[in-house]
Amino acid sequence: HPFFHYQDGTLFAEAVALTELAQQHGTPLFVYSQAALAHALDAYQQGFAGRNVGIHYAVKANSNLSILQFFAEQGCGFDIVSAGELLRVLQAGATPASVVFSGVGKTRAEMQLALRTGIGCFNVESEAELAVLNEEAGKLQIRAPISLRVNPDVDPQTHPYISTGLKNNKFGIPHERALQVFQQAAALPWLEVRGIDCHIGSQILSERPFLDALDKLLDLVAAVERCGIALHHIDCGGGLGIQYQTEVPPQAGALWQKMFAHADARGYGDRRFLIEPGRSLVGNAGVCLTEVLYLKPGEDKHFCIVDAAMNDLPRPAMYEAFHAISPVVPRAGTPVTTYDVVGPVCESGDWLGRDRALAVQAGDWLAVGSAGAYCMSMASNYNSRPRAAEILVHGSEHRVIRQRESFAQMIETER
Ligand code: LLP
Repeated sequence: HPFFHYQDGTLFAEAVALTELAQQHGTPLFVYSQAALAHALDAYQQGFAGRNVGIHYAVKANSNLSILQFFAEQGCGFDIVSAGELLRVLQAGATPASVVFSGVGKTRAEMQLALRTGIGCFNVESEAELAVLNEEAGKLQIRAPISLRVNPDVDPQTHPYISTGLKNNKFGIPHERALQVFQQAAALPWLEVRGIDCHIGSQILSERPFLDALDKLLDLVAAVERCGIALHHIDCGGGLGIQYQTEVPPQAGALWQKMFAHADARGYGDRRFLIEPGRSLVGNAGVCLTEVLYLKPGEDKHFCIVDAAMNDLPRPAMYEAFHAISPVVPRAGTPVTTYDVVGPVCESGDWLGRDRALAVQAGDWLAVGSAGAYCMSMASNYNSRPRAAEILVHGSEHRVIRQRESFAQMIETER
């Protein structure tokens, strides 16, 4: 990844040596590149020239306030899934109208907050939710702008835990029922039907599922509008994959050129489209630095024990996900050995990488790659480990965008 590169035998983020950051701020340490964020956003924008598109960054991928502020400043909107995420984006300077609210389990309190705030759209996922939202909107005398999340029953061919657009998933309204639910929604006094949305999964590596889902959405748009319900926007969700290892995901711009060719062919090319990308905007804009604590040779397996663990980087433990692991200062003269790279947490599932060929010694720093998305935002305090610090690099400058959690902060709310 071009924003993390070796120079004179040391790994850099843009123009900052990662050795200096590790020394100055300790490990585990997340380091993000602002140029990489801008580059990923630009990849989408290239496919959108002359089109009417809103990019709503999916906050869950990385919810650090400075990252949110960066996207807000670039003109992005946000896709949120909780009151906490709503308060975060407001704090980061988002305009309420640029926020869409997804999720199958919005509480009444969350709906009230979002209504009072004046968000752009509720992405409603069930008939029961429609009824509750109508009730809450009525109490506040504020009409709720809504979109219906349709489950298009398309197989995204990704990990089962992160595919969301199949019939057996808890997400969305079944395609066959959607038209009827749109009619229900249109009849409710405190709802204003604005759009249609879907999200079929995450880390999707081919164009096919996106195009299939779009086709199914457009079929519905036609049917809904034939019933006299006008749709202001079509929200295609997020889900575009990134390269962790050898995957070759579609390029955002090229994918969207195809998506628009499809939409054009069916006469929908000049509609307003929304997208909700998360991982593809931040995933490869971050690394996690960790220090090698011990090397532990064994009969069958050799272990490289590092100071980052499953509480910092939960994806390998949760999805058996692959993250590249590279030395910050590659060594000559140390023999290459195959290690399982593991953390200090007391679980066998606490591994960051398996069977990795590394030439390392205790005290070395390693960089865990593709750590910008779904790492810090999924971090926990398991084993009473304070959460890591985060740094944002911009050229030769860097800023601490999250301090390392202290013990006092960790126990602050307990009695
Ligand atoms: N919109 C909705 C409604 C979503 O549920 C999601 C992600 C996104 C947008 C953003 O998807 P993305 O562009 O990031 O693929 N923790 C898992 C990923 C969970 C994704 C959940 N939904 C992981 O680490 O792989």
